[in-house]
Amino acid sequence: MAFSKGLVFAMVIAIFAIVKPSEGALNAHYYDRSCPAAEKIILETVRNATLYDPKVPARLLRMFFHDCFIRGCDASILLDSTRSNQAEKDGPPNISVRSFYVIEDAKRKLEKACPRTVSCADVIAIAARDVVTLSGGPYWSVLKGRKDGTVSRANETRNLPPPTFNVSQLIQSFAARGLSVKDMVTLSGGHTIGFSHCSSFESRLQNFSKFQDIDPSMNYAFAQTLKKKCPRSSNRGKNAGTVLDSTASVFDNVYYKLILSGKGVFGSDQALLGDSRTKWIVETYAQDQKAFFREFAASMVKLGNVGVKETGQVRIYTRFAN
Ligand code: HEM
Ligand SMILES: *[C@@H]1O[C@H](CO)[C@@H](O)[C@H](O)[C@H]1NC(C)=O
Ligand SMILES: *[C@@H]1O[C@H](CO)[C@@H](O)[C@H](O)[C@H]1NC(C)=O
Ligand SMILES: *[C@@H]1O[C@H](CO)[C@@H](O)[C@H](O)[C@H]1NC(C)=O
Ligand SMILES: *[C@@H]1O[C@H](CO)[C@@H](O)[C@H](O)[C@H]1NC(C)=O
Ligand SMILES: *[C@@H]1O[C@H](CO)[C@@H](O)[C@H](O)[C@H]1NC(C)=O
Repeated sequence: MAFSKGLVFAMVIAIFAIVKPSEGALNAHYYDRSCPAAEKIILETVRNATLYDPKVPARLLRMFFHDCFIRGCDASILLDSTRSNQAEKDGPPNISVRSFYVIEDAKRKLEKACPRTVSCADVIAIAARDVVTLSGGPYWSVLKGRKDGTVSRANETRNLPPPTFNVSQLIQSFAARGLSVKDMVTLSGGHTIGFSHCSSFESRLQNFSKFQDIDPSMNYAFAQTLKKKCPRSSNRGKNAGTVLDSTASVFDNVYYKLILSGKGVFGSDQALLGDSRTKWIVETYAQDQKAFFREFAASMVKLGNVGVKETGQVRIYTRFAN
């Protein structure tokens, strides 16, 4: 018995509908007709904001990572808390994901230029690319067409990897989002820009373990420098901390060079050197910035595919569902 052509066709369509890879939904030319000025509007907003506040690039890059790791890249990180729900923004590691106003500003301009067209999730993804390029890093074409989420829960920030994770835990955390060991090491290179508060690394500086006061994987002189920046006791400012690498506003491969000399700030950074699965990648990038840039662009595209929503709404306001 032969199937009719029409039935076979319907079956093929049905199979595609079930197993359609999420990447298939996204497209580099998604707004070419509906909002041709979208990327220019976002770039200009991000560029101007960076001129006024040099902390903006690192914050927007981190925002993209957090957004994608919690509920997929759906701009849930921008939603405000309500009377009955505490949102991601107000969840535990809320110490440095700020600069929401930049995305809000870009989105407001986009609503004027092309109402209800460009999703907040796409604005975050494009802004993350722009801050990397503006800081001297690579450029890549951002795939677009993400829809926005309507749910944001503070307790889900617990699913973000903490800076105390070892390599096995990091690999698992990234694998759960379809990201490889290499993606993990490459995206950790995002720590080539930005700042950390003392609370994120001071467990490495004293009382590290039963046997060692200071984390033995940390360069001793570097540990002393960090200790001075993070005096114990209550009389340190709430902004006490350190830059993540010595060229903290430049996107380069210095992060990997510092790891080679024991100067990674987080345990999770330094651990990449202590495991054969990741060590070779650190060494490669430390001596080949071009390779790092090429792979970073590729891994950011993969990060931007995590848990993408193909159906749903384009939020009008960044802070509320429609
Ligand atoms: C591999 C697992 C990761 C861990 C454990 C981790 C952890 C952290 C921690 C603890 C901070 C400092 C927060 C603070 O004290 O203010 C931080 C900052 C930062 N992270 Fe990560 N991160 C990871 C991956 C990533 C990825 C994949 C990116 C982007 C591609 C990224 C980009 C950043 C940036 C740019 C900052 C600086 C933020 C600022 O200056 O405000 N991180 N990260
Ligand atoms: C540039 O950024 C500053 C600071 O965020 C803001 O006050 C100003 O309105 C912006 N200008 C434009 C043209 O976007
Ligand atoms: C961070 O989150 C905690 C717990 O949700 C909250 O109590 C605190 O006010 C927040 N801190 C800042 C600076 O927003
Ligand atoms: C987070 O809280 C929601 C209710 O607000 C609950 O349904 C969910 O199970 C919690 N998730 C985790 C990971 O604790
Ligand atoms: C990583 O940490 C987990 C949980 O603490 C532990 O079970 C595991 O043995 C550690 N793995 C390595 C390679 O240190
Ligand atoms: C180190 O840990 C021990 C026992 O856990 C504690 O008694 C001591 O006060 C700690 N020292 C510092 C400097 O935090």
